Amino acid sequence: MKTKVFVAKSIPLEVKEYLGQYCDYRIWDSEEAVPRELLMEEVRDIDGLLATSSDKIDEELLRKAPRLKVVSNIAVGYNNFNLEAMKARKVIGTNTPFVLDETVADLVFGLILSSARRICELDRYVKEGKWLKRIDESLFGLDVHHTTLGIIGMGRIGEKIAQRAKLGFSMDVLYYNRTRKSEVENSLGIEYSEMDELLKKADFVVLMTPLTPQTKKMIGERELNLMKRTAIFINASRGETVDEGALLQALQEKKILAAALDVYEQEPVDTQSPLLQLSNVVMMPHIGSATAKTRFDMAMRGARNLVLALSGEVPPNLVEELK
Ligand code: DGY
Repeated sequence: MKTKVFVAKSIPLEVKEYLGQYCDYRIWDSEEAVPRELLMEEVRDIDGLLATSSDKIDEELLRKAPRLKVVSNIAVGYNNFNLEAMKARKVIGTNTPFVLDETVADLVFGLILSSARRICELDRYVKEGKWLKRIDESLFGLDVHHTTLGIIGMGRIGEKIAQRAKLGFSMDVLYYNRTRKSEVENSLGIEYSEMDELLKKADFVVLMTPLTPQTKKMIGERELNLMKRTAIFINASRGETVDEGALLQALQEKKILAAALDVYEQEPVDTQSPLLQLSNVVMMPHIGSATAKTRFDMAMRGARNLVLALSGEVPPNLVEELK
């Protein structure tokens, strides 16, 4: 008998065909987040769940899913996992690292460039018919090349960002991480820095750390106050790593120059959020890994992790804490 699986988001046809060879699956074939009540119903008889990082896997859900053996996230982040509860129930969890590293690093560089050179703002300026004379300094931006980039969180994506900064833009790169990465320091020529020093020195601060109880709201008023008034803050990790109220205030009061955000405390972002009114903020809809190829690779990797785990093998992307 085939194992039973629920898929909590739409996936490409080829991935469906692959899954169908091994499992009986039901699918929430939509880009809207699956409603919690429906997810709770769907998990009652399943062995495996193909999930997104917005589907909370907590004690309540695990209680409703007595047969559940594996939750395979189609995401590198797994802040939706209650790791203790999963461990206690012996439910394993997997994610999709590697396939998205370069894609997210590309987006981060897009955010750096568009905020420094005001690309989105000036695109609107031209399209709204405001370009009626020679440009003057009110439209000037900041250089990216030969400046200092501070990366908070030196995982695989952090490394790819550092590589682009060093090789493509001749930037000095400082990084802060829980553990020092001497090999990366040597191979890329980047420098470890304590967090406060990094915040004081960097022209661009990129937050690229996973969301954990330790990193929740790690950037708040104190940290933003340490940054240069000319600095730009970029967040492509998770919205909850930042105190969004403090960031809004820092931008409104021009304590920092600008921000570029891919992630928010609430997603989709509140249509009434005051951030939407600020011209010094570039906002993207949590799209860091969203190219057609990478999203396909993530879905296929998620499906493979699930199938391997359900057939009793150790999937390659078992999350560290559940090994
Ligand atoms: C990830 O893979 O974690 C992306 O942020 C999408 O959730």
